[in-house]
This record gives sequence, structure tokens and C-alpha cells, in this order.
Amino acid sequence: MTAASVRRVCCIGAGYVGGPTSAVMALKCPGIQFTVVDSDAGRIAAWNSAAALPIYEPGLDEVVRSQRGRNLWFSTDIDAAVAAADIVLLAVNTPLGPRGAGLGGATDLSAIEQCARTVARVARRPTIVVEKSTVPCGTGELIAGILRRDGRPGVGFSVLSNPEFLSEGTAVRDLLRPDRVIIGGLDGSEDAQRALASVYAHWVPQERIVTMGLWSAELAKLAANALLAQRVSSINSISAVCEAVGADIADVSRACGMDSRIGGRFLHASVGFGGSCFHKDIMGLVWLAESLGLHDVAEYWDQVLQMNSSQTARFVARIARAVGCDLDAGAEVAVLGFAYKAGTGDTRNTPAAPVCERLLAQGARLAIYDPKVPARQIRDALPAESHYHHRVRICSDAYEAVAGARAVVLLTPWPEFATLDWARVHGLMAQPAYVFDGHRALDAPALDRLGFRAVSVGVRTTHHPKLK
Ligand SMILES: NC(=O)c1ccc[n+]([C@@H]2O[C@H](COP(=O)([O-])OP(=O)(O)OC[C@H]3O[C@@H](n4cnc5c(N)ncnc54)[C@H](O)[C@@H]3O)[C@@H](O)[C@H]2O)c1
Repeated sequence: MTAASVRRVCCIGAGYVGGPTSAVMALKCPGIQFTVVDSDAGRIAAWNSAAALPIYEPGLDEVVRSQRGRNLWFSTDIDAAVAAADIVLLAVNTPLGPRGAGLGGATDLSAIEQCARTVARVARRPTIVVEKSTVPCGTGELIAGILRRDGRPGVGFSVLSNPEFLSEGTAVRDLLRPDRVIIGGLDGSEDAQRALASVYAHWVPQERIVTMGLWSAELAKLAANALLAQRVSSINSISAVCEAVGADIADVSRACGMDSRIGGRFLHASVGFGGSCFHKDIMGLVWLAESLGLHDVAEYWDQVLQMNSSQTARFVARIARAVGCDLDAGAEVAVLGFAYKAGTGDTRNTPAAPVCERLLAQGARLAIYDPKVPARQIRDALPAESHYHHRVRICSDAYEAVAGARAVVLLTPWPEFATLDWARVHGLMAQPAYVFDGHRALDAPALDRLGFRAVSVGVRTTHHPKLK
């Protein structure tokens, strides 16, 4: 297929990747028709609805509304869209499979395999199949094998890896101005690589579109996520030292980040990282290393996950040391933010879930508020034990959540939390009122002046004898 002949693209998977990616491609390539398909009819209906889209991303509504019905379509008719497509993007979920005995975990590729079988069954003309999902090395060859075995004779297939590097919360911006577009292919797939590159060339500068081998592209995505998560765990490990010695992690991060060899991004200490990708992709990398006999490599990356869990546990331990006996007696804790980061309503692997679970286990009652996460989604992410249910209130604003609470625990740095009327918050809370800031999003000295006992990640506090 030549670059100029790309007319129809089908994306299987209408999630956090498939939806925004196809919408931005449609915006930038008015001459190409994009159809996003999914087996989840409810999700497709939401993408087609005039009300809220199924996912929240800043700027996404506008892009979808401008292209939907022109060159952007959402459908459950997977076979028809695949049969008509020159390029099929696979953006289905690739969750962790069942854990084995060793470190890490194999990726569950059943959705990818099912998509490959669908393409093989319905495609009647040359089709480029593109992995956008994050997959372990070798998945492209697995897909190619299915297409060779099950595809119609004479239909030519090419398999490419085009991993998606968007970050939730800034997906539209990232897609409009990607740092790089990676297109990996096996020997002989150069025409297919050029065809996919021609789609991106509508808006991405040529020097940012990089072609490479299939395995390198697949591994690049796992490695990028592992390196980003490693920076968070590294700075979080230093935050523990700061709390012990009386240093301030904000100063230490700044000093390190000003070194041009290090750079300042992803050096922000917090209660821990979350999201659907970091944990799963590191588990996949660890499993890959284990399966290659690279045990020291596997252990090295596994430590990034261990540090993340211990950071969350340490944060709750600080809360428990400060207000412990009151928690046992059923004190209410206001949880501000439940999404794994600001700018998204996604709660997959959010650190808020283990924090809430540990607080409930201590005996606390919780009043939870997040501006973008629906109440049902919060309840689904909490432990199923029925005796916890009556101890959780989901609130419709921050002031409702803090009323009567002994402590505020900030778990997502939504900008609206920094601009709350904190004097009013103080007046609504039981005294003495604590604030535990899991993201350094609040002005702790200003809170102290208002009468709070403010405790922040990565800085020692002197409010309580047992609390460093
Ligand atoms: N979420 C992110 O920020 C992000 C970023 C980069 C890469 N990724 C990767 O992209 C992939 C998709 O992630 P996501 O967050 O969009 O997942 P998601 O769960 O939001 O969406 C996946 C969609 O695929 C659909 N699906 C699954 N199997 C299907 C099938 N056989 N036929 C039709 N539809 C099917 C599901 O119904 C779901 O709507 C994953 O591999 C993920 O690791 C995610």
C-alpha cells in the first residue's frame, strides 16, 4: 500500500487510547475516514451521545464534536469496519494475566489475539495491522502468525508496532504535539511503515516520526513507562529520607532537577503513582526479564513497584500515628480526590484505593469527593466488605466532605483543592484539624497559620511527638 492510498482507518477499542487517538487523527486528516469500534455497546453509545463522553479528557469533547459524523464514526459493527479498512489499529486492553510463582506477570493478550482473528476472517484486501496497545516483545510476530494461518489466501498483511505514549489528563495535547511517533516493523514492511507515517505526517514534523524494528518499538514503550515510574519511586524514596532528617523534598527535587543531565520533570514526590499502565507495564517487563533468565534485571525493576507500595503504606502510617486512636474510635476522614491523577476520571490502580482501604481497616469513616469520578466508580474501587459500606460517604463537593472530619487527606492534586476557602474548611472540621497532603499541592505554612496541623509528603512535621 502506498502512502496516498490510505482512505479508511478502523480502530478496535474505544477506550482511553482508541477514542482520543482516532479523534485527533480525524481532526488532522480530513481526507481519511476513521471508524472506532468496540464490543462494549454502552461505551459506543456514550461516544455517540450528545451528553457526556465515556471518558473525561480536557479538550476531547470539542475534537469529537467537530469530527463526529464527518470523518469520525463510532460503531459496534466490528466486521464491517475492519473489512473496509486499509489500516486497523488495535487499541484494546492488555491487562495483566494471572500471576505465576515468580516476579512480574504475563500480559493477557486474549483481546489482541481475538482482534487478529477477526482481521484474518474478514479482510479481503491488503491490510496493515497496527499494535497501539502496549504489548510484550514478540506480540507482533504472534499477530503475524495468526494472520498467516487464518487469513484468506492472497490477502497481504503487514504488522506494525506504533505504541501510544499519551498521558491521561493531557491526552489531546500529547496527541496533537507528540514528542515522537515510533513505527516498528519487521523486514519487508517498509511500505506499510511509510503508509502509517504518511498519516502522522499530516501534523507531526518528519523528524519526530521514527521507524525501527518491531521488537525495539514494542520494548521502547515498556522501557519508557518503566523509566518514568522509576523516577517517581526514586524521588519518593528520597522523600522518606527527607521526613526522617528534616530536609524538604521540594528543595531536593529542585536542586536535582536543575542539573541539565537530570531535568526537573517526574521528580515530584507524592503518595505514589497509579494508573492503568505503570504497574502493569513494569510487571510485564519484570516477567519478560525473568523469562529471559535475567533475574537481576527483573529484581531491579520489581523494586520500583515495591517502593511505590511502601510509599503509600508509609503515608497512611503517618496519618495513623497522628490521629490513630481517633481513627479507631471511628473519626471521619475527608478524602479529597480519588482519580489516580488530576485531569482524568480514571481510577485504575489509583493510590487512593489502598489508602482508603487501610484507613477503613483502622476503623475510620470516610467522606470522599472527586470532581470527575462518579460515586459508583469510587465504590467499585473500594473493598467489597459490606461492613465498610456504611462507613463511606461519597460527597458532591469538598465542603460537604470536610464537614465534621478530623482530617483531610488530599490524594489527587486537582487545582480546585488548592483554591478552597481553607479558613471555611477549618471552621467546618472537628478540632484539632489535620491536613495530610499526598502531593505537596497545598501551602502547608499558610494552613498552619489558619490553625491546621498540616503534614506533607517529604517534609518533617513537628505537630505530633510521634510524627516525623
Ligand atoms: N490509558 C492510557 O493512558 C494508555 C496510554 C498508552 C497506552 N495504553 C495501552 O493502550 C491499550 C488500551 O488502553 P485503554 O486505557 O484505552 O484501555 P480501555 O480499557 O480504556 O479500552 C479498551 C477497549 O477495548 C475494548 N475491547 C477489548 N477487547 C475487544 C475486542 N476483542 N473487540 C472489540 N473491543 C474490545 C474494551 O471494550 C474497551 O472499551 C492498553 O494496552 C494500554 O496499556 C494505555
